[in-house]
This record gives sequence, C-alpha cells and structure tokens, in this order.
Amino acid sequence: MPELSDLLKDMMGKPSPIRQIMKMASNKNIINMGLDPDEVISYGGGWVGHHAPELFRQKYAEICSDRERFHDAGKYSPTLGFPEARKAIASMEKELFGIDLQEENVIIGAASTQLTHDIFITLANSGDNVLMLDPTYANYEGQVEMALRESRIVRLPVLEPESWEYIPSKNELVENFKEIVGREKPKIVIFPSPDNPSSQIIPHEVVKAFMDICEEKHIFLVIDHAYKTQCFDRPPAYFSWSPNDYPYLVTIHSNSKWCRGLGRRLGWVEAHPDVIDGMERTQQCSILCPDTLHQMAMTEYLEQALQDGSLKKYLDDSRAAYKRAADVTVKAIDEHLGMPCLVPQGGLYTLMKVDEDGDEFVKRVLKNTGVLFIPGKGFGSTLERGVRISYGPHVENVEVIKEGFERVAEYLGK
Ligand SMILES: Cc1ncc(COP(=O)(O)O)c(C=O)c1O
Repeated sequence: MPELSDLLKDMMGKPSPIRQIMKMASNKNIINMGLDPDEVISYGGGWVGHHAPELFRQKYAEICSDRERFHDAGKYSPTLGFPEARKAIASMEKELFGIDLQEENVIIGAASTQLTHDIFITLANSGDNVLMLDPTYANYEGQVEMALRESRIVRLPVLEPESWEYIPSKNELVENFKEIVGREKPKIVIFPSPDNPSSQIIPHEVVKAFMDICEEKHIFLVIDHAYKTQCFDRPPAYFSWSPNDYPYLVTIHSNSKWCRGLGRRLGWVEAHPDVIDGMERTQQCSILCPDTLHQMAMTEYLEQALQDGSLKKYLDDSRAAYKRAADVTVKAIDEHLGMPCLVPQGGLYTLMKVDEDGDEFVKRVLKNTGVLFIPGKGFGSTLERGVRISYGPHVENVEVIKEGFERVAEYLGK
C-alpha cells in the first residue's frame, strides 16, 4: 500500500461532516435510500446560482475567438498578477466602496482558498494560535491544520445556542475577545463578512474594537470578503478601510460569488505592501502565478463596466435577487416549520435551530423527504443543534425553496 504523510493520514481519518453529508446525498446513496435523485431538493450548496454579467462572457468570447489573443492568454502572468488587472481591482474597490487602494496593495491568486492557505504561511509561524468565530467557515480548520501544523485554533462564540441570537451583546463580545487575545496570544484573527454559515455581518463597532486591539498587539486581522458585494443593506464602514491606514488588516477576495466565477478560479488579497511582498514569495512556491485568461477577461470587463455603470447595476440586481431568495426562505421556514432562524443580512444562507442533534435531524429528513440540509457541527460547537440552509443555488428559481419546506413540514407533522 502506498504510504501517505502523517499529516494526511491524520486529516483523512477525520473527514469533515459537510463532506460526509454531501456523500450521503450522492445519486447512488439517494437511490439506495429508495428515493428518486431528480426529486431531491438541496439546501446544501455553498454556491451562487445567478448568471455572470453578459459583457464579462463576451470578453471571454472575444479573447477565445481571436487566434493571437488566445495565444497571448496562454502566457505566464507575473506572480503578483498583471499590473493592469491589479489596477482594475483597485479602481473597482474605489468605485464600489471608496477604498484608497493602489496596485501595490493587491496580489492576485487562484482563489480565496489558495490565498487563505498562503496567508497563513506568510503571516504566522507553526505553533502560533489562530482565533476564529464559532460558528465560522468550515474550511478554515483544515487549512490551519495543513499550513500551520503545530498551531491551535481558538474559538470566540458569536451564536447563543439557546436564544439563537447572533452577537447578543457587542460589549460582551469585545470583552471576551480581549480576554481570549490576552490569554491565547493569537497571531491571526480570521472571519468572513458577510459570514458563512450565518449570513450575518459583524457590526462596525465590534470590528473597530477588534482592529484597535490587533494593531496594538501586532495581530493580523484577516477578513474574508468572499461575499463582500452581497450586503443587503448599506455595507458597514470597515468595508471601506484601506490597508494603508491599518497595516495589520488583510482582506481576501474572490470572483467566485459576485460574478459566478466559482469554476473560473480567481481571487486576490488586499493588504499593506510589505504583506503583499511576502505573499509574492509564498505564491511563487504555491502556484507560481495566477491564471492569465481570467485576468485578461476581468480587466477588460471591469474597465468597461466601471465606465458605463453596468457593473453597479449588475451588482444591485444580483443583490436584490438574493435578498428576495432570503425573504422567501425565512418566510417558508416561519410558515411551515416555525423553527427559529437567523434573518440573512447578506450572502447565501440562514441557520435554523432544530433542537436535536443536527446530524441526526439531517439524516432522517433526507431519508424521509429527499430534502438536504447541512448539519451545523462542522461550523462549530455552537451549531450542534442547528442546520445551515442555503438559498444560493435557487436564486433564479425561488419556487423550489418553498416546496422543500412544505415536504419537511409534512414529514415532521407540523
Ligand atoms: C467564507 C468563504 N471563503 C472562501 C470560500 C471559497 O472561495 P473560493 O472559491 O474563492 O476559493 C467560500 C466558499 O464557499 C466561503 O464561503
């Protein structure tokens, strides 16, 4: 038998609860359960279902249909990304959020996932603690384990499992943060905003207090902005901060969610130029350079769409569509199940309290109704008796959202 590294043997020995449930919902298993895969309604997908901007698609088509431009798209990119692509990103951030950002503050990479891995390696030593919220994005835990082998993850609870309130008290949260930071001395604090799994947005006062403490203690505050353009209300003030004013602020961005580029992998980091320099060295080893075709198409799209106002319109329309899908979801939960859930403030999800072990609930609901939720445990212990519900994939077909809850209500006798 080929023998893998100790790290991988260890990690493969504890598969993520989310992967396990997705496996359980594979076509083969669904048929084994006596269900019809075509009848399955999934609230599991952590992805967006809206279409990319038509102009963006056209830019790809233009490049691909021209022999010489396609040839050009096959060349290596600089490790940092093309200067014009980095400039286009800085202009987009200025136009959408008023951020003072230069080319020197931006490195382009393959996607948030790769950039997060490289950020861990660039900013912390193995053995340095990493602070995360509870619940939080499920992939961070494995990423820390892989990038920082001796490090420990420290959790700051933000969901009250009984009352199902998210950040019931801002003051108490900041006090807890101070206490944990004092005790555990993390090198990195990381959280998404808008959040996955809760679709909540950490309030400005809280992030300002975190940032002040981080600056004072030289801790990096890493904000994962995968869903940045999807705030349903006005974005909080910290969405406009410049890393030139906060050298310990690092933000991670991605094309996955805003323009449905999940498979056209491209992301970037905004940070102080010294951090960008470090990331360049890391990225030389991890991916050498980002994708050229995606950068070419994005640069051309952004330059035109910023100029003619179509980017703003596209983002407003998609935001409104997700808000509508979120409203339909919350209303369907209220009407059919009457279980407590969070009202999404952005992004693709809500969290529902099921008042029993989330794993058990998800399994029996799937077996009996063909409806798939994601058990909460993988996101943190505060979510053990809850599930994550994603409306993201159904944004262009919200009728499906109601049907799933009707089926579950019938099974549960509600
Ligand atoms: C908070 C968060 N960060 C990062 C990612 C992954 O993004 P990417 O496709 O850019 O790797 C996801 C995907 O669901 C996410 O929810």
